[in-house]
Amino acid sequence: MKRIFSGVQPTGNLHLGNYLGAIRNWVNLQNDYECLFCVVDLHAITMWQEPDELRANTREVTAGLIAAGIDPKKNIIFNQSQVAAHAELAWIFNCVARMGWLNRMTQFKEKAGKHKENASIGLYAYPNLMAADILLYRATHVPVGEDQKQHLELTRDIAAKFNNDFATDFFPLPEPLIFGEATRVMSLKDGTKKMSKSDPSDLSRINMTDSAEEIAKKIKKARTDAEPLPDTAKGLEGRAEAANLVGIYAALDEVSSDEVLQQFAGQGFAGFKQQLADLAVAKLGPIQDEMRRLMGDTTHVDQVLKDGSERARELAEPTIREVQDIIGFLRA
Ligand code: TYM
Repeated sequence: MKRIFSGVQPTGNLHLGNYLGAIRNWVNLQNDYECLFCVVDLHAITMWQEPDELRANTREVTAGLIAAGIDPKKNIIFNQSQVAAHAELAWIFNCVARMGWLNRMTQFKEKAGKHKENASIGLYAYPNLMAADILLYRATHVPVGEDQKQHLELTRDIAAKFNNDFATDFFPLPEPLIFGEATRVMSLKDGTKKMSKSDPSDLSRINMTDSAEEIAKKIKKARTDAEPLPDTAKGLEGRAEAANLVGIYAALDEVSSDEVLQQFAGQGFAGFKQQLADLAVAKLGPIQDEMRRLMGDTTHVDQVLKDGSERARELAEPTIREVQDIIGFLRA
C-alpha cells in the first residue's frame, strides 16, 4: 500500500515556497495515493505563538490547502493536536533517537541561532515529532520541499533503529518525494536564503494572501543582476537570484527552466519580471479568491478539520496499540 503523509506549520502566512515546493505537488499526488495532510500545530508551538493567531493561522492554512485543490473528502486534512497519538509516539521516539542525531539537525541550529540555551526542548526534539507524524500512519512517501530532507533522513533512522531494537519490521522506511522546478524557492531579496515565513522583510516572500498589486510590486523589487538572461539553465550558475526567478516562472507555468529561457534568452529583467508578475497573478489569483471565501466560512473549515481528525484517529489507533505491544507496555 502507498500512503502519503505531509505537513505544514500554521505559523504566519503560507507563501509561494510552501505552495510550489509542497502543496502544489500534494494536489497532483492525491489521485495516486491515500493521503493525509496535517496542519502541524504541535510543531508550531516549539516557538511562541499567540493563541488567537494560532487558531486563525490553523484555519488559514486549512483554507489554503482546500483552495489549492486538495479534496478534503478524498484525503484526510486535520490538525495535529487533535490526534493525541502524535505526541504519544513522539515521546517513544524521544527514547529511540540519540542526542548526537539531533545535534546534527541544521534547522535547529538555524532556528535556535546564538541563543541555543534558551530554545525550547520542543524545538530540539522537533524532528522526533515529525518522525512520529509520518510513522504513526506508516506512511510510505512524504512529499516535501528540499529543506525537509534532513528531517526525513532522521525519520528513516528512527524507524530503522526502532525496528532493529525490537527485532521487528513494523515501520516502513518512508521515501521523500522532492520534485518540481521549485524544490527550494529562495528569498526575493537574497538568493542565498530560502523564502521563509520568519524572514523579517515581507518583500522577501510572496504570501498566498498578497493582492495582485503586492505580488507585482514584490516581483518588480526582487533582487537581480545586471546580465541579460542566458539561453539555458546552465548559464544561471552563480546567479542565485536570476535562477530563483526563472525557477519560479518554470514552476508556475509547469515547464522546465530551459523552456522558460528559450523564451527570454538575451533579454533584461524588466520585461521578464512583468511577465512573471502576470503569470503569478493568473495562477495564484483563483486560489487566493477561494481561500478568502473559505476564510469567511469558518464553520466549514472547522468541520473539515473535525472530520479529518476523526478519520486520522481511526488510522492512528491500531498503530499505537501495536507499538505498545512491541515495546512491552502492559495494556490495561
Ligand atoms: P513548513 O511549514 O516549514 O513548510 C511546509 C512545506 O513547504 C516546504 N517549503 C518550501 N519549499 C520550497 N521552497 C521554500 N522556500 C519552502 N519553504 C517551505 C517545506 O519543505 C514543507 O514541505 N517540518 C515541516 C512540517 C512537518 C512535516 C511533518 C512535513 C511536520 N511534520 C511530516 C512532512 C511530514 C515544516 O516545518 O514545514
